[in-house]
Amino acid sequence: MRTLKLASLTTLAAGVMMAGSALADPITIKFSHVVAENTPKGQMAEKFKDLVEQSSVGDRVDVEVYPNSQLYGDDQVLEAMLLGDVQLAAPALSKFQKYTDQLQVFDLPFLFEDMDAVERFQSSETGQKLLTSLESKGLLGLGYLHNGMKQLSASEPLRVPEDAAGKKFRIMTSDVLEAQFEAVDAAPLKKPFSEVFMMLQTQAIDGQENTYSNIYSQNFYEVQPYITESNHGLLDYMVVSSASFWNGLPDDVRPEVEKALDEAVAYGNEIAAQENQEAKQAIIDSGKSEIIELTAEQRQQWVDAMKPVWEQFSDAIGQDVIDAAAASNEG
Ligand code: LMR
Repeated sequence: MRTLKLASLTTLAAGVMMAGSALADPITIKFSHVVAENTPKGQMAEKFKDLVEQSSVGDRVDVEVYPNSQLYGDDQVLEAMLLGDVQLAAPALSKFQKYTDQLQVFDLPFLFEDMDAVERFQSSETGQKLLTSLESKGLLGLGYLHNGMKQLSASEPLRVPEDAAGKKFRIMTSDVLEAQFEAVDAAPLKKPFSEVFMMLQTQAIDGQENTYSNIYSQNFYEVQPYITESNHGLLDYMVVSSASFWNGLPDDVRPEVEKALDEAVAYGNEIAAQENQEAKQAIIDSGKSEIIELTAEQRQQWVDAMKPVWEQFSDAIGQDVIDAAAASNEG
């Protein structure tokens, strides 16, 4: 009798402990990114956190957002993810080259005429298939997130390709971007985002390419007196997680987290254009950087100089993928 009582007490205690530890150990999703909080990606991350908190799994899942390369730069984040140290990230599509060549399609200069074309391509069959291009490496593409079109900032005015010749430009870790700047006889340097401001300020580099949102929120405009509105390339992201983490989420939790993520991505995509427009206006209002509009003839010179890069990468990316992306301009 006494033994039985003891045994059931032990079982009860174990049950309490288990329930206690389930309560004490919610699932933590660390979302690491490199940009400021007031950017499309920064706001999307905060939105995701809020939506998870408000959802029915809010007491079981904790979202921690780490902006501004606080936790990892984009060059380490995917490795950290595969090691289980971070669960969610949204690196620029230019930063997956180590894992797949196909996503480099998004870096081809002058490929997309506008963000509507980008949207059409990303939601097409080819675009959706590219979300699975990291699966053999253990990473899941959970969706595309917009920032917008890149502009060229520099210490001197850039109007025609010859103006870039001999100048040093920071680029993301992408061979396509390297070839793009080599095509205008410039010197590209692959550097982490977190180092760009300092390199511009100390004139270790002459320029860089980015969206208005990043140029504004990282204060690049304060140390770059000229911004050429070139719209020459795309800066978009892929939201990724490791397959083992995501597929290992309990079956009653994953759908709720996925729903929150889809909603947050839709929100980020909705505000991206407006964010970039506001950042552009804030730069103009600051009077610190002059925005240079290209004439049609000047822009064509950049197109003619940079477009041969497509051919250089057609085998690596796949001509069919390039053709599908180019066709998205037709509406
Ligand atoms: C960059 O490195 O310039 C961008 O990828 C930063 C970002 O995430 O927008």
